[in-house]
Amino acid sequence: MFLYSFKMHHLISMQDIKKEDMLKILHRAEFMEDVCNFKVKYDKWKDIVLGNLFFEPSTRTRISFEIAMLRLNGKVSNFAEKPSQTSLEKGENITDTIKVVDSYCDIITIRSPNAGTARYASEISGHPVINAGDGSNQHPTQALLDIYTMQKLKGKISGLNIALIGDLKYGRTVHSLISALAMFNARITLISPEDLRMPSFIIEDVEKKEDVRINEIYDIDVKDINKKIKEGKFDIIYLTRIQKERFADVEEYEDVKDAYKITKDMISDNTIVMHPLPRINEIDREIDNTKNAAYFAQAKNGVPVRMAIIDYLLENFYGDKVFVQ
Ligand code: CP
Repeated sequence: MFLYSFKMHHLISMQDIKKEDMLKILHRAEFMEDVCNFKVKYDKWKDIVLGNLFFEPSTRTRISFEIAMLRLNGKVSNFAEKPSQTSLEKGENITDTIKVVDSYCDIITIRSPNAGTARYASEISGHPVINAGDGSNQHPTQALLDIYTMQKLKGKISGLNIALIGDLKYGRTVHSLISALAMFNARITLISPEDLRMPSFIIEDVEKKEDVRINEIYDIDVKDINKKIKEGKFDIIYLTRIQKERFADVEEYEDVKDAYKITKDMISDNTIVMHPLPRINEIDREIDNTKNAAYFAQAKNGVPVRMAIIDYLLENFYGDKVFVQ
């Protein structure tokens, strides 16, 4: 009998990543922090080109992927976020766009407003593909940097009480994060307006694979939720923006847009406040300068974690191939 061990060449969804791969990436991110801080030199991927393909707005993901590749001594070609600035505007099919970009670059990141685009790109591309967010589906690199940040701040994830709060229906960051948290045995509570509950297929997938029980609160008993937060029942509260752009009806958005807002007096000393950003009104700015605030640390950790992801995928893909320097 032959046993095949498939190496991870793409990062598309936290639903299909193995914990072993996740641990290797997280460990590598610590080394990448030293590279960022000029403590070690690392230029294995000198002149390797990343195609940074963004068809939806982004600040953190796009820029941190660009900086990550530059810190690895690679090169970056940024593709316009507006289809009007590419040949898609002339009617070109996304398949042709991806095939051409694949022929120019050595690794591709892709953000799309449509769920499934990154997976499709990985199926037709000859190079590693990284999902930088596909519609309201998945945002796996965000989940990895979230886990990295939690581990750094709390020293562990197993057994921690972690609340995911806000738009759990359309928020792709939490769709990815819940799978990762389950793999680390966190105690997960989902808090959202009823209309913005986490899709049941995601919860079922997590409960099927991992030995976790997920607690859901969706009746917006805000007072009760606030009491739990104030009493320090949660080690980490992870807030998300209500995703206005995903609502078909603007009135539905208006009904829920201010469902949750965390202020300084609502949090206990030991509660970490996280958010993938951008935020709208979910977190009062007076929390920014407290030791509870972790959202800017999250954004900063995006660079070493994305360096580790690029490095891991390229290493798996190219193996021991030597590049002429
Ligand atoms: N967290 C995140 O994905 O931010 P951007 O949309 O700015 O990339």
